[in-house]
Amino acid sequence: MRKPVVLITGASGEIGHGLIERLSESGNHTLVTLDVRELSSELKGRVHREFVGSILDKSLLERILAEYEVDLIFHLAALLSTRGEFTPVAAHQVNVEGTLNLLEFAQRQGESHGRPVVFVYPSSIAVYGLPDLATKAAAGKVQEDQFLQPITMYGCNKLYCEHLGRYYARHYRQLAAEPRAGKVDFRCVRFPGLISAVTVPSGGTSDFAPEMIHAAAKGEPYACFVREDTQIPFMAMPDGVEALLRLAAAPRGNLKQTVYNVGSFAPTAEDIRKLVRQAFPSAAITYKVDTKRQAIVDSWPADVDDSAARRDWGFAPRYDLHRAFGEYLIPTIRTRYRSDSPTL
Ligand code: SER
Repeated sequence: MRKPVVLITGASGEIGHGLIERLSESGNHTLVTLDVRELSSELKGRVHREFVGSILDKSLLERILAEYEVDLIFHLAALLSTRGEFTPVAAHQVNVEGTLNLLEFAQRQGESHGRPVVFVYPSSIAVYGLPDLATKAAAGKVQEDQFLQPITMYGCNKLYCEHLGRYYARHYRQLAAEPRAGKVDFRCVRFPGLISAVTVPSGGTSDFAPEMIHAAAKGEPYACFVREDTQIPFMAMPDGVEALLRLAAAPRGNLKQTVYNVGSFAPTAEDIRKLVRQAFPSAAITYKVDTKRQAIVDSWPADVDDSAARRDWGFAPRYDLHRAFGEYLIPTIRTRYRSDSPTL
């Protein structure tokens, strides 16, 4: 008998960290993880089995398929938008071929145990590409089907994989004698920038916000790489994790869309700097604009319309901007960098 489990790829990353904590606390799930990097010692004890390896390694996926019965996949592994611009082919391999491998894995799982496999996929505001700042200002909260002209490899990859997921869910091998669609129950959220108090991001372009906060808490100076009026949506990590769990648990019949925007606050870089300076008055935060990274953030919407997620599966973020800082980021981050706290 194979063992029923939840599979998390990219488990060592920021979202994986929060997701493993939440799922293991609920005690209802047996977790199997896959990442090229080892889990932190704190997370290792929370999972049933850790595979260290690549989502591009098909023989490793075969081993997992042979050993476990997977009903739910959180496919988090990705190369983010800044990193992807330095190594576009590697980004395509991880983000597209890796996702294709996981969708095929889910299809085979579903065929072998006979139940649809819920496949939760985090996409991103990077799928949007607004042509200029005037259009961005006029657009306000964008809907799921607007401005889908991404300018980064990562954004192109995410947008294409949203379509791939829909293909597996609804049209897979549609010309075969016995079409086999319906084995992958693909569900996707488009995340805004995520800000965690316990981990720091790497390789993203929304990283200026979390970097500013973490630098201030460590007492280090920070030069923000985007202009002070730069605006994109953000979300506190616990709300991001909660969104994944809620979407995974939603009754299939309620989901009218494959892809849902989610967001919770949309501050400018200067709004964030002011809040950080309220908490850490001596924080030395300056602006040193990187025009190339600025252009990427300028192509992302100022905010997203997430009314479909609220309507269909009850998305309801707990933290607005002020609660995120006052109740989550600042208190948690102070503990995180206390000299006697363990490093994660
Ligand atoms: N945080 C991501 C990035 O900056 C956007 O999804 O690449």
